[in-house]
Amino acid sequence: MKLSKPVPPPFDKYHFYRRAVQSPDVDVRFLRDTYRELRKSEPNDLREDFCGTFAISCEWAKLSPKYRAFGIDLDHEPISYGMAHNLTELSKSAAERVIIREENVLSPGLPKVDIIAAMNFSHYIFKARETMKQYFANAYSTLNDGGILVADCFGGPACQKQNKDFTEHRGFTYVWEQVGYDPVTSEAVFHIHFNVKEKSGKVRRHKHQFTYDWRMWTILELREIMLECGFKKTHVYWEGTSRNGDGDGVFTRVQSGEVCEAWVAYVVGER
Ligand SMILES: C[S@@+](CC[C@H](N)C(=O)[O-])C[C@H]1O[C@@H](n2cnc3c(N)ncnc32)[C@H](O)[C@@H]1O
Repeated sequence: MKLSKPVPPPFDKYHFYRRAVQSPDVDVRFLRDTYRELRKSEPNDLREDFCGTFAISCEWAKLSPKYRAFGIDLDHEPISYGMAHNLTELSKSAAERVIIREENVLSPGLPKVDIIAAMNFSHYIFKARETMKQYFANAYSTLNDGGILVADCFGGPACQKQNKDFTEHRGFTYVWEQVGYDPVTSEAVFHIHFNVKEKSGKVRRHKHQFTYDWRMWTILELREIMLECGFKKTHVYWEGTSRNGDGDGVFTRVQSGEVCEAWVAYVVGER
């Protein structure tokens, strides 16, 4: 009898994404501290728009027994992954305070909260100004009085050309690839690949695990649209620089930025 070859388990792209890209424990502290700094009060409810596997929502529920988190995403796949891998990590009490909805962030009737987080540049999916405005207006109308919208953003000259960036992790390399940049439309396509070292020592390439087709928004554009939607004030949190010239992960409120090849920042709108 001919034995059939064992079928390898499917590649767990969310596991590698979690290790390479996400820092939800750091993100929730930044969100809480930013609210405290601007509002001089305590937040309770957070909405994680474009939540994917809703790692931030889970960390938020862990941060305080008073905190509730709502996650919104229209894709069933990451939500069900989060249900199986992230929600199950929580205590019963924390898990009960995480509510996930498979829905479009542009839909009416989303939960009203103190903080809305749009992270990992997910809102860059909206290419038309009108659609970004519709999103920010929806966020504004679903924030409690004094609530904040926190949207991350990135840019710099390095993001205006084709490039591939390699980051080494234990057992694998994370590859962030930018495929061109259109100066007329400000659009660019990005791919995430993982090169994983197997037990045999062989490196297996898992290409195109995630693909994003985005418009590269500027900070100024995002701030102007927030103000048009009724936000009272907008702020920018800019990352400090470590000794080796890379970002140090510490974001502070600034009035102006500085020239660097690639930067990450947060734009915050206050209702
Ligand atoms: C870049 S991923 C980020 C996921 C998650 N925030 C994270 O950091 O892992 C973007 C997510 O936005 C979701 N998405 C895209 N357009 C959306 C929309 N209009 N409404 C809700 N979710 C959307 C996608 O399904 C995807 O899960």
